[in-house]
Amino acid sequence: MPAAAPALAEAFDVLVAPPPPAAPAVSAEMAAADIPQVIALLRAAPQAAYCEWEDEALLARHLAHSADLCRVVRTPSGRVVAALLAGSFGVRGSISHAVVDPGHRRLGLARVMAADALEAFRRRGVRRIFLAVLDGNEAATALWTGAGFRPALGERTFECDL
Ligand SMILES: CC(C)(COP(=O)(O)OP(=O)(O)OC[C@H]1O[C@@H](n2cnc3c(N)ncnc32)[C@H](O)[C@@H]1OP(=O)(O)O)[C@@H](O)C(=O)NCCC(=O)NCCS
Repeated sequence: MPAAAPALAEAFDVLVAPPPPAAPAVSAEMAAADIPQVIALLRAAPQAAYCEWEDEALLARHLAHSADLCRVVRTPSGRVVAALLAGSFGVRGSISHAVVDPGHRRLGLARVMAADALEAFRRRGVRRIFLAVLDGNEAATALWTGAGFRPALGERTFECDL
């Protein structure tokens, strides 16, 4: 092998070596400072069914007692790219919204937030969680069935706007 070959092979290794594995996504408790970005993400995703009355003041009051159930994923620079809002009145739990920035989808962020929110419910002793998925939202249906949710057969959801 010519003298230059080892150096060439080393350089080639660098070129073809697989990239280091991306750090696994982690979710964090939602903080009050995240709320404006969370609302912006929700507004941009009609399937998330965000309601305008769920404003900054309401969410801040909610976080005061439920931050462990409400999850975000932030980039290293602190940008919120995924959010999940959940709550409990102490017995049953509910997940009201989940959203991931379009540029960060299919990376497992929603799955991580879901797992961490369910763990937070478990720690509280809350063992049944409800959520609603709009008809035709196949991504959300696959997400939640993958997380262990099943359609509640024989039940209809009733709601009342005040
Ligand atoms: C639904 C949503 C939150 C999923 O977020 P995500 O971070 O891309 O989801 P994940 O990468 O964690 O995917 C977890 C699983 O969900 C399912 N899933 C996610 N996106 C999917 C898609 N576009 N089509 C089919 N299945 C999908 C898959 O089973 C996936 O597992 P896999 O990647 O191993 O196949 C995201 O698409 C979103 O923000 N949609 C708009 C808002 C919305 O619909 N919110 C849900 C309201 S209930």
